[in-house]
Amino acid sequence: MENQGRNGKRLVPGPFQGHLTPMLQLATVLKSKGFSITIAHTQFNSPDSSAHPDFTFLCIPDGLSEEEVRNPDLIGIVLRLNVNCESSFRECLNQGTNHMESGDKICCIIYDAVVYFSEAIARDLKIPSIALHTSNAATTIVRPILLQLKAQGHIPVPDSMLQVPVPLHQPLRFKDLPLSNFGSLDYFLEGIVLMYNIRSSSAIIFNTIHCLEEPPLAQLHQRYQVPIFPIGPLHKLAPTSDVSLLQEDTGCITWLDKQTHNSVIYVSLGSIAHLNQDQLSEMAWGLANSKEPFLWVIRPGSILGSEWIDSMDEGFKECVKDRGCIVKWAPQKKVLAHDAVGGFWSHCGWNSTLESICEGVPMICQPCFGDQKVNARYLTHEWKVGLELEGEIERGTVERAVRTLMKEKEGEEMRQRVLDLKHKVEVSIGDGGYSSHYLSELVELLTSL
Ligand code: UDX
Repeated sequence: MENQGRNGKRLVPGPFQGHLTPMLQLATVLKSKGFSITIAHTQFNSPDSSAHPDFTFLCIPDGLSEEEVRNPDLIGIVLRLNVNCESSFRECLNQGTNHMESGDKICCIIYDAVVYFSEAIARDLKIPSIALHTSNAATTIVRPILLQLKAQGHIPVPDSMLQVPVPLHQPLRFKDLPLSNFGSLDYFLEGIVLMYNIRSSSAIIFNTIHCLEEPPLAQLHQRYQVPIFPIGPLHKLAPTSDVSLLQEDTGCITWLDKQTHNSVIYVSLGSIAHLNQDQLSEMAWGLANSKEPFLWVIRPGSILGSEWIDSMDEGFKECVKDRGCIVKWAPQKKVLAHDAVGGFWSHCGWNSTLESICEGVPMICQPCFGDQKVNARYLTHEWKVGLELEGEIERGTVERAVRTLMKEKEGEEMRQRVLDLKHKVEVSIGDGGYSSHYLSELVELLTSL
């Protein structure tokens, strides 16, 4: 707050759920430290300002057409936003600064690395800037080498190389490289160059934790000449922050209340991934045949060729009516913290990964694209708290994986390991822990700007 001598921060989130979430959580944390906050967001996927009465919201005209918004070409949208928003954001800031008293001056722009246009404007206006990476440190280490690998002819990855370890980047194999499923490879690599070049930024914030990523964080400290702040998990530092773009169905908590301890497998593939009708059917029958209770989030529009679950087999619905609950969007953090939830079948988005670890819930890992593949490999082969679901989704494999996680010794061992990790994370955010230490350093830096 200005009267405490801590001047304004402009925070520019990336316009997708997995990006808005950590930025709004960071905003909540900084607000609690006395900083005044303005969230400068695109029209596309704009956050609900009424859920955050303590922040000022500034909408940046983004010039996206209805067609572009409907189009699932995420890389195209990101590149376009970065071109379209540059002048409109500059204008917003100029108008804003003209009306400000000197005490309200913007002292820093914290921007999601995917909306790198913010850095260019901050540099021109001589405002310090800090980048926030919403994926983990391991992804940030490996993404820039994709260009080299492409130049060496290894990308697109030929089938013969899929299982080959990436030199110097263990435990990753070529199939785990964080490539996108969207748009053209050249566009994607163009985006990588722009996102991972921090240019004039004074520091980088990561929603990660020292105990999970010590070696990649050490490499990042060497690569970048600016301070690195791994202050995660942000959702634990800002547990009250309401960040959902979609309406949460809280009825599933009432349903969970009726289930027994650790009996339910929670299934969700995040905010972006899509399934085709065959994948939906194989997932459904794998769950049904496992005979385990499940809570499944199916986002409207996420099944190619149907609005929601209208195309689902009536036989399946009948078979699982007493032990399955399907919702459009769940209060995921509450679900994972619920006593009845014993496993999480996930796409391994970084937020979901952190949320699961923080509640001590072991996972079935079905990464769909990008950093999810890196996260899945770390979950299964580094932290050993997840089972890998390899290849095409097939009901027999699904059934076996669900049973292994929920009922067998291997699943129980993963549960023990993830509970150990949960404890380490709690230590990290407690007094004297690494995340607390880095957060204090970040606050010190922000205060000095
Ligand atoms: C993608 C990437 O994969 C991720 O790693 C990147 O950092 C951001 O973009 P996304 O599909 O959004 O992610 O997944 P994830 O990062 O897991 O974020 C999803 C968020 O939505 C989580 O915070 C989760 O709690 C929330 N969610 C999901 C709900 O609140 N309810 C649901 O029903 C499903």
